[in-house]
Amino acid sequence: MDSFEFNKIAGAVLAAALVVFGSRTLINEVLHVPEPEKPGYEVAVMTTEGDGVGAAKDAGPSVVELLASADAGAGKKDFKKCVACHTIEKGGANKIGPNLNGVVGRELASVSGFAYSAGLKGKGGSWDYVALDSFLTSPKKYAPGTKMAFAGLKKAQDRAELIAYLRENTDSPPPLPEASESAEAGESSEAAPETAKE
Ligand code: HEC
Repeated sequence: MDSFEFNKIAGAVLAAALVVFGSRTLINEVLHVPEPEKPGYEVAVMTTEGDGVGAAKDAGPSVVELLASADAGAGKKDFKKCVACHTIEKGGANKIGPNLNGVVGRELASVSGFAYSAGLKGKGGSWDYVALDSFLTSPKKYAPGTKMAFAGLKKAQDRAELIAYLRENTDSPPPLPEASESAEAGESSEAAPETAKE
């Protein structure tokens, strides 16, 4: 082939490479594809994003506000994401995670006979609504070193429903926080990674 033709081909190859490389970079830029923090297993949990409300919910009211009207029945369905590792009924066995009956208001890491991580044990305090909300948003962020291999629930509505369900399975739960107290819950919205990242 003459050098003109060669140049044409070389040019085309280069252009193609540029497009491929460029669009990959662009896609990464736009989508912010995160590198996994650590490779390995995180129990894959199916999320049903079918209700069409999407992320818009997250910009809305805090979990503390949502709790007032959160549907524990819906929370029971959400709890399917947890049953691989947790029982909820009174006297239920510890599985990969501890039994969760009565967890609302309970001291952190206090089920006897369950071997908690140092991360959770060292944290101290009790599972009030704000603590549960932060933990369920991102277990790893709330209690670094936790062995709860669960990515977290992005939607405030889901967390509120689940917490309502946990509350229903607690004999004498602490009173629901007043919505006005939610100003203090600023910490929990700070803990919500989705608002920061996206
Ligand atoms: C892959 C297994 C797994 C899944 C799924 C899981 N958990 Fe856990 N969970 C654990 C483990 C393990 C611990 C103990 C954590 C530690 O010791 O650091 C734990 C701890 C907890 C605690 C603290 C209990 C205590 O006694 O202090 C709560 C609350 C909790 N999980 C709620 C949930 C909810 C709600 C879900 C579902 C949205 C869920 N978990 C899904 C494994 C799991």
